[in-house]
Amino acid sequence: MEKITFPKDFIWGCAASAYQVEGAWNEAGKGPSIWDTFVHTPGKIANGETGDITVDHYHRYKEDVALMKELGLDAYRFSTAWARVLPEGTGTANQAGLDFYDRLVDELLKQKIEPYLCLFHWDLPQALQDKGGWTSRDTAYAFADYAQLLTRHLSDRVKVWMTHNEPWVAAMAGHFSGEHAPGLNEPLAGFKALHHIFLSHGLAAEAMRASAKQPLKVGITLNLNPVHPASESKRDREAVKRMDTALNRLQLDPFLKGTSPVQDFALGKILNKSIVQPGDLEKMHTLDILGINYYTRTVVKYDRKFPVVAAVQVQPEGNEYSGMWEIYPEGIYEVLTRVWKDYFSPLHAGLMPASPRSVGEKVDDSGVKVPEIMITENGIPVPDGVDYDGRIRDERRIRYICNHLVQVHRAMEAGVPVKGYFHWSLMDNFEWALGYGPRFGLIYIDYKTLDRTIKDSGLWFAKVIQDNGFEY
Ligand code: FCB
Repeated sequence: MEKITFPKDFIWGCAASAYQVEGAWNEAGKGPSIWDTFVHTPGKIANGETGDITVDHYHRYKEDVALMKELGLDAYRFSTAWARVLPEGTGTANQAGLDFYDRLVDELLKQKIEPYLCLFHWDLPQALQDKGGWTSRDTAYAFADYAQLLTRHLSDRVKVWMTHNEPWVAAMAGHFSGEHAPGLNEPLAGFKALHHIFLSHGLAAEAMRASAKQPLKVGITLNLNPVHPASESKRDREAVKRMDTALNRLQLDPFLKGTSPVQDFALGKILNKSIVQPGDLEKMHTLDILGINYYTRTVVKYDRKFPVVAAVQVQPEGNEYSGMWEIYPEGIYEVLTRVWKDYFSPLHAGLMPASPRSVGEKVDDSGVKVPEIMITENGIPVPDGVDYDGRIRDERRIRYICNHLVQVHRAMEAGVPVKGYFHWSLMDNFEWALGYGPRFGLIYIDYKTLDRTIKDSGLWFAKVIQDNGFEY
């Protein structure tokens, strides 16, 4: 047995998102979001399920915060529903919506749990979608106004703000492949949406800092996967480069370098001419926290049929899968060390390599600083069952978290200053197009009664938090 210990100030948290847990989809003045529209469109969600009620966190938030307390969480990462606060996306605020987030934040603070507020976890107000949604530049400005409104309202109590969760997924799954809301299937729309979401991060960061009641940390959460070749053939290795650019560099370069590799793709050239305006990239290049969501790796092989990347994802045989994704704990180490090495080695700033950079240090003359790095999501769907004694013995989830934390710790030993780990998710919840099938929670939900029960993994995680480490 080996014992690993995390630094004293390591942040242990859980993550969730508004649409997936709140419910109360049309209550107290909330406007419809694109997810409300999408789930009510036949054929979009497994078994026709919706997030109309989901786990009813809107009404049960007190009980949920009490459970967080029981687990000993330092922080809770949640998102605000734009259409709950601004039913039309812009204009007059809905006081009842603001009140809900007041209550939630106050309850968290009362229990000494730090709120990590994410402004956008995919539920764009339908009213804005009707005007073009993220494919329209105006939405980026509307987002900055929404961010400012919430900052004015909550920045006396909320210090950590994430603008977006996984913009790449919101853009690509929503506009390129179409399996998420708003369900478009146009590659160019995917790239347009991505650019505007990125731009909105910069616009919002500026507006938020200008109206904050105390210094804020403004971050973003990105989905990053290491990309591996299906074989050692030259064509597969080249496919890896394209996929890595389209997935990882496309997301990291703008925020960490102020550049974009988008012109590597034919579509990017069109985009650069018609969509990207001078100064956009500079605006995005601002970040206090880089949140990384890690679930799996991407293994690809060359396939010219697939647009943009000419590569297709494959699932190597003989490995462990969760039903959604391959389980690959080493990947979290790879992602963390790659980000640190590629973006924060002194070589990047054109300096002689001396010592690694540290958080808060200036990267270059632009005033950009090295952000804090944290894992903002990591987890596994397990078909949990309740044993006859009422316990949920989800050993697979414990093994998954344990193996990933070992790799996070390994990256820290290699010099990456990882600041925290947020498990996805606190409770089982609505898993987008897959409905309620995949259960990701440390807390089990009985979907008939909405009763909550802490699973064995939750008890295990609580002990990890208490001991600030574990034996394995
Ligand atoms: C991430 C999402 C989150 C959840 C997990 C399983 O991509 O950010 O909402 O669905 O996957």
